[in-house]
Amino acid sequence: MYRTHDCGQLGIEQVGETVTLAGWVQTVRKFGSITFVDLRDRYGISQLFFNESLNTQLDATPLGREFVLQAKGKVVERSNKNPKLPTGDIEIEVQEFSILNAAATPPFTIEEYTDGGDELRMKYRYLDLRRSPLKKNLELRYRVNRSVRNYLDTKGFWDIETPFLIKSTPEGARDFVVPSRMNEGQFYALPQSPQTFKQLLMVSGYDRYYQIVKCFRDEDLRADRQPEFTQVDCEMSFVEQEDILQTFEGLFKHVFKDIKGVDIQEAFPRMTFDDAMWHYGNDKPDIRFEMKIQNLKPEGKVFCDALNDIDFKVTNEAESILAIVVKGASEYTRKQLDEMTEWVKRPQIGMTGLLYFKNNTDGSYKSSVDKFFTEEKQQALAAFCNAEKGDLILVLAGKETRTRKAMSELRLEMGERLGFRNPDDYKPLWVIDFPLFEYAEEENRWVARHHPFTSPRPDQVELMNTPERYGEIKANAYDIVLNGTEIGGGSIRIFQRDLQEKMFAALGMSKEEAQEKFGFLLGAFDYGAPPHGGIAFGFDRLCSLLGGQETIRDFIAFPKNNAGRDVMLDAPSSIDQKQLDELGLFMK
Ligand code: AMO
Repeated sequence: MYRTHDCGQLGIEQVGETVTLAGWVQTVRKFGSITFVDLRDRYGISQLFFNESLNTQLDATPLGREFVLQAKGKVVERSNKNPKLPTGDIEIEVQEFSILNAAATPPFTIEEYTDGGDELRMKYRYLDLRRSPLKKNLELRYRVNRSVRNYLDTKGFWDIETPFLIKSTPEGARDFVVPSRMNEGQFYALPQSPQTFKQLLMVSGYDRYYQIVKCFRDEDLRADRQPEFTQVDCEMSFVEQEDILQTFEGLFKHVFKDIKGVDIQEAFPRMTFDDAMWHYGNDKPDIRFEMKIQNLKPEGKVFCDALNDIDFKVTNEAESILAIVVKGASEYTRKQLDEMTEWVKRPQIGMTGLLYFKNNTDGSYKSSVDKFFTEEKQQALAAFCNAEKGDLILVLAGKETRTRKAMSELRLEMGERLGFRNPDDYKPLWVIDFPLFEYAEEENRWVARHHPFTSPRPDQVELMNTPERYGEIKANAYDIVLNGTEIGGGSIRIFQRDLQEKMFAALGMSKEEAQEKFGFLLGAFDYGAPPHGGIAFGFDRLCSLLGGQETIRDFIAFPKNNAGRDVMLDAPSSIDQKQLDELGLFMK
């Protein structure tokens, strides 16, 4: 037996027992003729004490960091206790030990805070994973996985696997493709999601399906995006939107309670896509704080009278003028405001400037455009925005889309600076009534905003016959948003062949093309497809939010870097000529 206990387990109750531990050497501290070693495993750290006679042995075979060590000894109470360590009351007085394996000096320190840079830690990911922050993240991920499965199990969902080698059916991102040796010149695609399979399972009658499953998308990466990521993918039959929202709201409440001990009793708020864009400037609003966007002049329509009869080109000519009220910030200094101005001018935000209006606590007004805005005008503007004494109004002016996006970013930035975005404050909501279509200017055609299997809202199916009105159609689709991140999305699906064909046609697909790409699904719809709908959650995103962090990478055991590379494996990599020949591939 290699060990009787783990390194996180022993305490005062075991004093006097003889135990055997095995683990990795975290630190070796030599004091004259005695040595202390911190031994680490997945469960914790225990202090080993080597007396004089063992020290002679240690001198002959010195221990290094990360050596794998087995030690047998007696648990004794420490005279010098370490309250920071769960095992800090005791140490093990080693009687015999054995080095199970030596280790090269690790390229970075394996401690809570390491000296290793990102790339280095990714290269030696197996060492990075020994560090407690990552260990905690992976443990959390495992617990969330269990919690999700437990809930879905009690609701009668079956976990059914679907294939990874499938047909390329674009869903928004680019596909990763895999050449087929047995079918030269032909390719499989890796699924962007199991969307069509889960729908086919509904046709098969498996009316509650789920899978915690890898999805693959060849898209540009960000902190919350990986080329292969995990979804909790679900589908149900004989359901309407309300059934799905109820079922999965239940799932989230269960997970929050289970993992964070947060008991959310109230129903999650629901917000239409239009309202989200209007008040927050994006479709994934962070509702942990108010600071809603004030629409002074949206889409060229002047809503705030204070903007009329002003001799100021910027506001007169802007298509859109939006504001936020920053509570109690009228004392912001010139320096702080200049800094915010620089912030909105950054290329990522792309605005030409920032206007401000201060409602001073003494009732006076001060703005960056006093030359154009009289005191009455400033007062009227403040009244329109519901600003009070002591508040600061920040205003952006420019093209509608850009200004709204920039204001949404500025709102988040101010929320961050003012400490309103506490990661432990969980504020989920549903965003509903998304547009069914989006116009892709570059392609000069309509594309599905969610995916082509999403149905229009029941009251809007008729509009599918009027191409001029495609832009107005609302989808029977919903997203779940948590603290400003989209963590899941889904829809009620089209389940009749004729409506699905209409959808493909609306997306500019010929009948032949639709048949070639999606014949299997259209065919299945001929054989009794039930009404159905579903949702998928970004599992990595959910875990990172529950772990209070923004980057999903640290919640994935072996992630890719921002260039989509696995620097540990050095993948992707070229393949040898023999493999290329077998696959019938020629390199340029
Ligand atoms: P969707 O494309 O909205 O829906 O994806 C569902 C959720 O998956 C997460 N996600 C990602 N996470 C990490 N890296 C990525 N590259 C990435 N892309 C998406 C997001 C997102 O909300 N088949 C539909 C679902 C359905 O209709 O049932 C789908 O895949 O959190």
